[in-house]
Amino acid sequence: MAIKFGRPLERGRIVPVETEKPAERLDLAIRPRRNRRAEWARRMVREHVLSTDDLIWPLFLVDGTKVRAPVDSMPDVERLSIDETVRAAERAAKLTIPCLALFPYTDPARRDDAGSEALNPDNLVCRAIRAIKKEVPEIGVLCDVALDPYTSHGHDGLLRDGVILNDETVSVLVRQALVEAEAGCDIIAPSDMMDGRVGAIRSGLDAAGFDDVQIMAYAAKYASAFYGPFRDAVGSSATLIGDKRTYQMDPANSDEALREVELDIGEGADMVMVKPGLPYLDILARVKNAFGMPTFAYQVSGEYAMIMAAAGNGWLDGDKAMTESLIAFKRAGADGVLTYFAARVAETLKKGVA
Ligand code: PBG
Repeated sequence: MAIKFGRPLERGRIVPVETEKPAERLDLAIRPRRNRRAEWARRMVREHVLSTDDLIWPLFLVDGTKVRAPVDSMPDVERLSIDETVRAAERAAKLTIPCLALFPYTDPARRDDAGSEALNPDNLVCRAIRAIKKEVPEIGVLCDVALDPYTSHGHDGLLRDGVILNDETVSVLVRQALVEAEAGCDIIAPSDMMDGRVGAIRSGLDAAGFDDVQIMAYAAKYASAFYGPFRDAVGSSATLIGDKRTYQMDPANSDEALREVELDIGEGADMVMVKPGLPYLDILARVKNAFGMPTFAYQVSGEYAMIMAAAGNGWLDGDKAMTESLIAFKRAGADGVLTYFAARVAETLKKGVA
């Protein structure tokens, strides 16, 4: 049986190739494998590059000094006391990672229904911001705006009779953003998914003279099972009542992500984020194509845990899976990635082995 192979136009004809003679050389003009033949050639035609400039490193904070407390569901990730966080910031700066994202583990005694610890100018996050800004001023600091590390019910907003109150929550979030900006936070990152919060936070910041403080909106944030290990790390999985599906997006939706992102841009977001990461690369690509904004992906805790767990079992090569997953974000259009692998991948990039 003869099978016809597509041939280059300049040769103008299709040459049938007898498949019964597999050893016979095909008369092909176009051979994509030529460009993959050698490492130098692969480097030359490579379309996307991951650099340390693409990384935002999320860190978990805990009270105390000299504390490095492991997070069981996130191998190699620890909750750090502020002194240790400053050491991590120094390490990040040396690795030329541009920015850290800070997440507090709040002492359960300080959690209440209203999440009032979020408004305490001396809370863990604010103290950590000040310490980092003093010791490592060259690194950017991003902080979440959302109440979940502070509420006794584990939700991102205020809860009344089982309902998350949108507008009441937004006014608290504005105050939380101001407290963080006052402490020296560079990028406010609303992760709560309340309607109208970006605009309200922008006006609140501007009215208080913080017009240089940037906003990275968790613009398309899905109600995802992949946040599980994060909730262990900040201690909200034990407390969370119900789920977050009345404010975080339905994983089945895609057009809705574009509407969410458009709203946040209209309300003054400087940068937008899609979250989770790898399972939502289609959303990332659509958002980047539609708006051309600085667009970030969050490779979330569950994605990190999956790679680390498989690597820990010897089921895949952890470093290779890490690097491949991160270049996938760049290929899909991300300008940067929040990833728990940040320091690890930066080290491999510096060694030139990634
Ligand atoms: C808080 C917040 C969450 C994450 C970032 N900010 C969890 C959630 O919304 O439940 C998840 C990050 C991760 O899983 O790595 N609103």
